[in-house]
Amino acid sequence: MFNTKMSGLALALFTSLICCSLALKSPNESLPNIIIMLMDDMGWGDLGVFGQPSKETPNLDAMAAQGMLFPNFYTANPLCSPSRAALLTGRLPVRNGFYTTNAHARNAYTPQEIVGGISKDEILLPKLLKEKGYTSKLVGKWHLGHRPEHLPLNNGFDEWLGSPNCHFGPYNNIGRPNIPIYFNSEMVGRYYEDEFVIDGKTGESNITMMYLNESMEFILRQSKAHRPFFLYYAPDATHAPVYASKKFLGKSQRGVYGDAVMELDYSVGVILSWLKQLGIDQNTFVFFTSDNGAALYAAKEGGSNGPFLCGKETTFEGGMREPAIAWWPGQIEEGTVSISSHLRNELMAVRLGLYKAHYWTWSNSWQEFNSGINFCPGQEVINVTTHEQRDHTLQPLIFHLGKDPGEKYPIRVLSSEYRDALKSISPIVEQHQKTLVPGAPQLNMCDLAVMNWAPPGCDKIGKCLKGPQSAPWKCEWPH
Ligand SMILES: *[C@@H]1O[C@H](CO)[C@@H](O)[C@H](O)[C@H]1NC(C)=O
Ligand SMILES: *[C@@H]1O[C@H](CO)[C@@H](O)[C@H](O)[C@H]1NC(C)=O
Ligand SMILES: *[C@@H]1O[C@H](CO)[C@@H](O)[C@H](O)[C@H]1NC(C)=O
Ligand SMILES: *[C@@H]1O[C@H](CO)[C@@H](O)[C@H](O)[C@H]1NC(C)=O
Repeated sequence: MFNTKMSGLALALFTSLICCSLALKSPNESLPNIIIMLMDDMGWGDLGVFGQPSKETPNLDAMAAQGMLFPNFYTANPLCSPSRAALLTGRLPVRNGFYTTNAHARNAYTPQEIVGGISKDEILLPKLLKEKGYTSKLVGKWHLGHRPEHLPLNNGFDEWLGSPNCHFGPYNNIGRPNIPIYFNSEMVGRYYEDEFVIDGKTGESNITMMYLNESMEFILRQSKAHRPFFLYYAPDATHAPVYASKKFLGKSQRGVYGDAVMELDYSVGVILSWLKQLGIDQNTFVFFTSDNGAALYAAKEGGSNGPFLCGKETTFEGGMREPAIAWWPGQIEEGTVSISSHLRNELMAVRLGLYKAHYWTWSNSWQEFNSGINFCPGQEVINVTTHEQRDHTLQPLIFHLGKDPGEKYPIRVLSSEYRDALKSISPIVEQHQKTLVPGAPQLNMCDLAVMNWAPPGCDKIGKCLKGPQSAPWKCEWPH
């Protein structure tokens, strides 16, 4: 669906900052450490610094004050798996294979019945960094496929604590297994069981704290060994079912979702202080963002996309625009705001400067909408948040995001503003289409036999389950 070009910014940022430093300095002592903090379903409007009225993110707000805020930062896709695949490969989902051809413009991802995952032909960031002597760790959600060949340690990471899929559940382990948590290449438990409890009633869980501890231990070890590191910190507490530890439950003014945001904000603060305490803050580039916009259909379990239209799973601003902060004391000037209007083009919609053209519009199907799932609650805009996939390629809908960040007032087609905007956008779209080489789609086939029945290591902890016979089918993607 979303042939978005990986946000120029993310790539430019990582490559320019990292490459420059790699080029300038010689031994590994001076290679900058890299931490990417990727939140799950956290929205642009969830941070105090972006105007969240309850102001419950003091650490992120301080991080922004000490670093650089990106109000115009885009994800490559409004859904978790393709967004994460794009982040780690630097390539559009349509290029790296994280899409489906089973249906037009549907959101595909990696539930546990997915057969595919990240292609072995893709080069992930940790693999590149390894050549420079980095040690890489993922703490948190992976979501690039859960079969052994797709897991983090087979794709460039040296260490991992976290899960391959979303923490949906609990399941009965007969029709569907609970999602495993891995420590490196073996599972060490499952969600909702034993030590990875998420209390479905209260939302209490200690997992965010475990992830924080694991991250700090990793940073400490690398710092002591003078080894440059890449930490991909990807906690999932703000993805429904949302959770927080006891210390944070009930503390926010926004329910358990807000409690989860507070705990993550706290964790970010602790990690930044830890870098200072270890004396490596001047040599560590930290980038905070989210995989996609807040899930508005999750209602109270979802966040806020501020003034933007719709949310997760849509190509409106609410799905694509993410909170983003870069922090690197001594390297990134304090208190700067980047409004660099990088080029982002995609088949559904393209942004150029402050103009955004929608070539296709869609929120979700009538069938799903009528069953109560609404991607744009309270925000229906006639002919924009359509419930059938509407083709506007002959006459795209164009918005001026400066005047109309909420994408509510399409510019009149007969105006000169419309003509001028289209005239500058069209060549870019043509160029993109011409040079696009789609990757082989990895998200077409499903099979109950591939679910997390018996992940590596299950025998050691007595958690192997027996799955059904293989019976693959073409996955159906409802959104
Ligand atoms: C979280 O950890 C505390 C302290 O170890 C423990 O008392 C509590 O039961 C744990 N909560 C859950 C939901 O596992
Ligand atoms: C992580 O947790 C362990 C066990 O509770 C504790 O001993 C250790 O000090 C913690 N690490 C950090 C960096 O806080
Ligand atoms: C560079 O890294 C290697 C291991 O990757 C380590 O053995 C060596 O001590 C490091 N050099 C310095 C100057 O820290
Ligand atoms: C919506 O689109 C239809 C069909 O193109 C058109 O007839 C109608 O006037 C539009 N409505 C608005 C409010 O723009």
